[in-house]
Amino acid sequence: MPTDITRYLRPDFEDLEPYTPVQPLDVLAAEIGIPESDLVKLDANENLYGPIPEIRAAIANSDFHIYPDPGQAALRGAIADYVQVLPDQVVCGSGADDLIDILIRLVVPEAIAIATPTFGMYDFLARISRARVVEVPRTAGFAPDVPALGRAIADGARILFLTSPNNPTGNGLSHAEVEQLCALGALVAVDEAYIEFGGLSAVPLLDRFPNLVVIRTFSKWAALAGLRVGYAVAHPELARRMMAIKQPYNVSVAADVAARSALLHRARILETVRCIVAERERMSALVADLGWLRPLPSESNFVLFEVHGRSARAVRQALRSKGVLIRYYDRPDLANYIRISAGRPEDTDRLLAALRALETL
Ligand SMILES: Cc1ncc(COP(=O)(O)O)c(C=O)c1O
Repeated sequence: MPTDITRYLRPDFEDLEPYTPVQPLDVLAAEIGIPESDLVKLDANENLYGPIPEIRAAIANSDFHIYPDPGQAALRGAIADYVQVLPDQVVCGSGADDLIDILIRLVVPEAIAIATPTFGMYDFLARISRARVVEVPRTAGFAPDVPALGRAIADGARILFLTSPNNPTGNGLSHAEVEQLCALGALVAVDEAYIEFGGLSAVPLLDRFPNLVVIRTFSKWAALAGLRVGYAVAHPELARRMMAIKQPYNVSVAADVAARSALLHRARILETVRCIVAERERMSALVADLGWLRPLPSESNFVLFEVHGRSARAVRQALRSKGVLIRYYDRPDLANYIRISAGRPEDTDRLLAALRALETL
């Protein structure tokens, strides 16, 4: 029997560039040679306060021997109440990533356009669906280049993916920018994964623009990244079509009850969000005081720093050897930048100690 199975498979996947995920903590701890509990995880924009006890209790009490509701009625209703839209405008998924994928599969676009630098998942999922990715570089100050995005539509792009606040640059879109983008004549997906930390939501514009879809998640503010639950808000017809093609059971029972519990107790969770925002500002100022890392203003739960006089990669490596994990980008437009998530005060203290130790090297 020939062992070459590749002839049965898509040839364009042979040299597929994989998505760069964060590594599991136990693997990292073993690699670095320190206990897992000593790692300071500032590389993936998670909420390090963790989920509140009520969410753990809700999961423990859930009946997960039964399949989840494919119509997601209870969760869509709770989200609609939170976002102030109608339940039939909401579609839930296994993280925001799932909604990005559903949207691409709903359109099967010849191309999508993204405003770079930005979140890597749009590019990855588009390529999986055989869509070409038109990268439209952001202008100075990392604002989206609206006329150039318009030219991308002329070049075949059928969906524009914009992140607001943007990951990793931290800046958000204005309503005027979203309006201009929606007027260009493509679907406009505004990914608001970090909106609870700052920035202006595009949700109020949904009434005026049926081609607008807002994507959000429980991963960041509600500390549910590991459970995988996100949602899209759109015109009811677009939402209906997304509901029709999603995997029926794409939100697990555990994720569903956890997300509803998070919404029920949101006032308390949003207190940790306020702490993270305060810590972002404190971390930014303390790191800036070192004199060789310039913070960009951020409306999110992370800060992008421009590195002066050292290589960004070397800084990432040196911090990693001390158990402090941050994000470094192996791409030309971010060659001299690092992204650091805002954590708890003790996380900032460990970061600062590690950065100071690095100065004496
Ligand atoms: C802009 C953006 N969108 C979506 C996600 C992923 O969200 P989820 O965990 O809900 O799939 C991330 C995670 O880093 C992100 O930065």
